Amino acid sequence: MDVIQAIKQRRSCRKYMEKPVEFEKVSMVIEAGHHAPSAGNLQSWKFIIITEKEIIKHIANYAFQQFWIETAPVVIAVCSYDEKQERHYGEVGKTLYATQGCAAAIQNMLLTATALDLGCCWVGGFERDKVHDLLKIPTNVNLQALITLGYADEKPAEKTMADLYTCVYFNSYGASIAKMHMVLGNYSIEWEKKIEENKSKLHKIFGKIKEKVKKK
Ligand SMILES: Cc1cc2nc3c(=O)[nH]c(=O)nc-3n(C[C@H](O)[C@H](O)[C@H](O)COP(=O)(O)O)c2cc1C
Repeated sequence: MDVIQAIKQRRSCRKYMEKPVEFEKVSMVIEAGHHAPSAGNLQSWKFIIITEKEIIKHIANYAFQQFWIETAPVVIAVCSYDEKQERHYGEVGKTLYATQGCAAAIQNMLLTATALDLGCCWVGGFERDKVHDLLKIPTNVNLQALITLGYADEKPAEKTMADLYTCVYFNSYGASIAKMHMVLGNYSIEWEKKIEENKSKLHKIFGKIKEKVKKK
């Protein structure tokens, strides 16, 4: 599966089969996270792989009773070691770069899971203090998010997508183009359609020209 396919196929999965995930696949997911870009290449993330059912049960409870999490055979906690970023970049390192690096790692992991035929979900809704304690995370490490992982036992419903022109601008904020799909995304598709539409017209025109040439 190429990356574009993985991006389009990835969906949040909230129901998993009672089937363990091969550790090789978990390793590939973690490695993908570790390959993410990070400010100054500091790689200030930490990943905790959780497979113990009891711990996952507690996590589900602390995630504001998102009990579907209990069905996941694997949960990955993504943490950032903010002090490292702060030492190099000050406040912006601590508040922005640490989080952004982890977000990049998370998306890499979700896409890799998708490519490996695994279901996954980015979980940000949980009581931070409680999960911190449960996973024995030191106070100078920040728990950014959880990822559930497993074989999907559901097919997510179609999701509605906002039109691109509502969120893409050119050169300055707010400068949008009404027919954005003509410029982005479907550009080539639109032109292929036009070429197809005009092909038959061109055939007719060339046919008439050929007949005229023959008569002469
Ligand atoms: C920062 C963040 C936090 C999220 N937290 C949760 C969560 O706590 N529980 C949940 O079920 N989904 C969570 N999601 C998943 C979103 O609900 C989901 O990505 C969104 O509805 C779009 O659906 P899709 O992932 O299938 O494309 C979170 C996603 C992000 C990026």
